[in-house]
Amino acid sequence: MNCDIPVNGQWYRRRDTRTDRCCFSKSEAWDEYVAMTVSATIKPIRPENIDSFHRALDEVACERKYLTFLHAPPLEDTREFVLKSLQQGNPHLVALAGDQVVGWCDIQRHHFPAHAHRGTLGMGVIAPFRGQGLGLQLIESAKEQAKEAGISRIEFNVRADNQRAIGLYRKTGFAEEGVLRDAIFVDGAFFDAIGMAFLHPHHTDPGESG
Ligand SMILES: CC(C)(COP(=O)(O)OP(=O)(O)OC[C@H]1O[C@@H](n2cnc3c(N)ncnc32)[C@H](O)[C@@H]1OP(=O)(O)O)[C@@H](O)C(=O)NCCC(=O)NCCS
Repeated sequence: MNCDIPVNGQWYRRRDTRTDRCCFSKSEAWDEYVAMTVSATIKPIRPENIDSFHRALDEVACERKYLTFLHAPPLEDTREFVLKSLQQGNPHLVALAGDQVVGWCDIQRHHFPAHAHRGTLGMGVIAPFRGQGLGLQLIESAKEQAKEAGISRIEFNVRADNQRAIGLYRKTGFAEEGVLRDAIFVDGAFFDAIGMAFLHPHHTDPGESG
């Protein structure tokens, strides 16, 4: 696969010297774009956002500090994941700057009947757009959609040193439930993870039981 090639006006691929794999990265044009336009809007993801969502996912994953992925899964796997998630009515929001995905928040409903009221949350905002309130808007919108979908318990594990994310989760009503010791191993080091969850106060019948 070719690296160090422009993908479009705002993105290019570079080779990650540590892993010798390709990563998406921002071009100078993208930085200029960010400096000029800082507003992004929160929308439910649509099939035409998938390529851009994949690039945003890869960019955050390549930081190697926040997500379980260290690269985005292949584009076709991501497409299948999003389309299936839409079909199942799972919450999946994106922050769009123009037609570019700069952040996302999705909640995947658990499969087994006795766990069908539970959903696992995943989210990220690409670095130039952090600290502008997008994470807060994404998570509040996803919580609202989860409530409508009958997902009353939203949960995930977060790396214990991810103070920005933990700050956001606490602010939006998530509570710590326990520490998963040495749950993460990246670049030769172990990290604890913290289990966190939010429970919608008025539980509705999740519908799917039996
Ligand atoms: C975590 C993340 C999604 C937050 O999104 P964001 O757009 O930067 O967050 P916001 O600007 O909406 O901030 C909302 C709240 O988060 C908390 N927060 C933000 N930055 C923080 C920081 N540096 N330290 C502690 N808390 C912070 C604050 O409570 C903040 O509210 P406030 O501004 O009123 O104080 C984003 O930083 C990100 O994508 N990080 C990398 C990927 C990641 O960690 N994903 C989650 C994996 S579990």
